[in-house]
Amino acid sequence: MAIHTTDYKQTLEAMREKLSAVVPDAELQLKAELVCEINTLKQEQSVVILGHNYMEPALFHTVPDLVGDSLGLSQAAADTEAETIIFCGVEFMAETAKILSPNKRVLLPAKKAGCSLASSITAEEVRELRKLFPNTPVVTYVNTYADVKAEVDICCTSSNAFDVVRSLDAEKIIFIPDEYLSRNVAQDAGLPITVAFRNSAGQIELDGDFTNGILAWRGRCEVHEQFSVSDIENARKQFPDIEVVSHPECSPEVVSHSDFAGSTTKLVEYVQKSKAPRFLILTECSMGDNIIAQNPEKEVVRMCSIRCPHMNQITLEDTLHALKHGEKEIIVPEDIRARALSSVERMLSIQ
Ligand code: 13P
Ligand code: SF4
Repeated sequence: MAIHTTDYKQTLEAMREKLSAVVPDAELQLKAELVCEINTLKQEQSVVILGHNYMEPALFHTVPDLVGDSLGLSQAAADTEAETIIFCGVEFMAETAKILSPNKRVLLPAKKAGCSLASSITAEEVRELRKLFPNTPVVTYVNTYADVKAEVDICCTSSNAFDVVRSLDAEKIIFIPDEYLSRNVAQDAGLPITVAFRNSAGQIELDGDFTNGILAWRGRCEVHEQFSVSDIENARKQFPDIEVVSHPECSPEVVSHSDFAGSTTKLVEYVQKSKAPRFLILTECSMGDNIIAQNPEKEVVRMCSIRCPHMNQITLEDTLHALKHGEKEIIVPEDIRARALSSVERMLSIQ
């Protein structure tokens, strides 16, 4: 899938073939130069470039050696032989790669590429939840920072959240920090849900009694919380043959009005296999462009005002800068890394 040549003409031709439906030609001409420079430097270093499904099309379809969802990329990071991993994704993903590969240099091609979910909970808040509910297993969605992963029992991603919860076989489970993902998992598992949040007095408060089922945290993805049932109804009214797919970070109402919900890679696979003529894809907009570039016969109804400001930070320019200057290197203190590793490894062991 990646373009490996360092020849400008061949690069531009390959990029035009894949991307002319979604990227203007003037931009392709500029970006082909960057791709050639990146490929030249890649040949001189032991480096693997990983690209999340949300990367902009001119990056996603050119320099990454591997593309995928959070789970696929963490597995790839664990398996690679390369000395350096350049992670074209957000900071918590690059941190997960460092947790799994402490002896490799992990670079994030941005000064800061955060995530509203990862910043919604701190390690101290997890310790407080543990004090309030001792002996209750704690699951964290992978969209958290290493110090939070270090405080929990097991991680999960959007593609294995249900399996992770089921593997615990516990009457009560704390599941942080995405309220909507927790609600979607609780719905699939037929479990009751209670939500914890920090109130205006600074205390942790619950919206009900947590006697069994899942205790969620009130964190939200600032991108997926914007999709609504009326977006789906409007699309279905206009295009009765449309299929609607959504990411489980969307609200349970949106998920239950969709034809399919899953991780970013599962959404790509679903659209590729489906015979429907058009799709509404309720997740970050670049992924729709990436799907069109790969499947020109599919029509994707666009809602392109909705972009992740963090994923958007990563560009070909920054990827080149990372290769040239070794920035920004991800550092995770060893005591935190070792504890976070057991949560990530426990997740990987249940695949
Ligand atoms: P995936 O694990 O499905 O790739 O999702 C990551 C993410 O941040 C979605 O917003
Ligand atoms: Fe975080 Fe949402 Fe962006 Fe994914 S789309 S990285 S969950 S803010």
